[in-house]
Amino acid sequence: MTALPPRSAFPPGFLFGAATSSYQIEGHGFGGAGPTHWDTFAATPGNVKGAETGARACDHYHRWAEDLDLVAAAGFESYRFSTSWARVLPEGRGTVNAEGLDFYDRLVDGMLERGLKPALTLYHWELPAALADLGGWRNRDVAQWFGDFTRIIARRLGDRIWSTAPINEPWCVGWLSHFLGLHAPGLRDIRATARAMHHLCLAHGTAIGVLRAEGLTNLGAVCNFEHALPASQSPECETAAKRYDAIFNRFFVEAMFLGRYPEEVLDGFAPHLPRGWEEDFATITAPLDWFGVNYYTAKRIAPAAGPWPGTAERPGPLPKTALGWEICPEGLSHILTRLHHDYTGATPLYVTENGMAAEDPLVHGLCIDEDRIAYLAAHLHACRDAIAAGVPLSGYYAWSLLDNYEWAEGYEGRFGLVHVDFESLQRTPKASYHALSKALER
Ligand code: FCB
Repeated sequence: MTALPPRSAFPPGFLFGAATSSYQIEGHGFGGAGPTHWDTFAATPGNVKGAETGARACDHYHRWAEDLDLVAAAGFESYRFSTSWARVLPEGRGTVNAEGLDFYDRLVDGMLERGLKPALTLYHWELPAALADLGGWRNRDVAQWFGDFTRIIARRLGDRIWSTAPINEPWCVGWLSHFLGLHAPGLRDIRATARAMHHLCLAHGTAIGVLRAEGLTNLGAVCNFEHALPASQSPECETAAKRYDAIFNRFFVEAMFLGRYPEEVLDGFAPHLPRGWEEDFATITAPLDWFGVNYYTAKRIAPAAGPWPGTAERPGPLPKTALGWEICPEGLSHILTRLHHDYTGATPLYVTENGMAAEDPLVHGLCIDEDRIAYLAAHLHACRDAIAAGVPLSGYYAWSLLDNYEWAEGYEGRFGLVHVDFESLQRTPKASYHALSKALER
């Protein structure tokens, strides 16, 4: 088994962190948070395993101090967390839930007390239900609503935040949720998708503008990437993989850094985009100080009959995680190198999420997750390969600190470095947590 590279194998100042998100851990039933489109989605039969919600999740809302202790004790120097829009603005707009804002205030102070750099993501998928009623991401006004939420957070937390990104994984918010229907709001509609994806770009740029105006620094974006490979060497598979890659890997970064959408996506989107979309690139291309990469897996793409985009996924030969995701560490170095060359140039890159789901049983109070240690080791070596190739990679965040609410998988996809018993809510660091702490020792 490949060993975890020690901290000393990375350039001085390379940052290590752990990541979580609000709805997945906090317990949305507490503290006056408003209903979200995830609650609606989960209440609709067939969408989420066991119809589970984040109502209690890990109860981080009450146990945050213990959780921050775990981050600090592992030797991480940063904690990536998110703020729930519906916790702060239960109706999405208008009256602030003071208790919700106070919670994030305490949390950020708690990070600073422990010497952790707060890495904030403003939106990690819990759209207030009241805004979903108005069309959510399909409504162009969402950019302004999000800008207003951003300002509230910036004014309260901005003096203590180390880095900020507006939206986690816009591909998931757009394509996965409006085209594939697998996440909230569960639509399968190309017009909704094209509009949501454009409005996500506009909301991103609007939020960056608000954050700069409020005096925040170290602003970035967090997108997800997959190593998109043709299922065979046939020209048809090559073309399908290119189209998949344009939708998944190029759409958002190309909009943010080059001010355009890929031709391969416009082939399908052009008739569905809102009028005047080209004029929004001035906002969308607001300069960024860093770019975050969430990477988990590779996909093998083949052509499929039917309308655009005409792509299908095929199983690949590599070992898989408990969620069936193919483990392909070299895809990470490939993506990082490509982003650096084609889009981000000298802008520092961070791996903002990487990790694997496993069954992770507790046996006699221990969870020996050797597979996860191997996964993390292989991906950290892929980071080193990218650095050796000249990529300005500045840090790595493991997903996730805790086992948590894994969206449509309910509580079954365990990604944590720390095991959570969802009955007793007891936290137990896994072998991977201990191995990483050892590797991070100074
Ligand atoms: C990412 C999400 C995160 C988590 C991991 C496994 O797509 O950002 O919330 O679900 O996948």
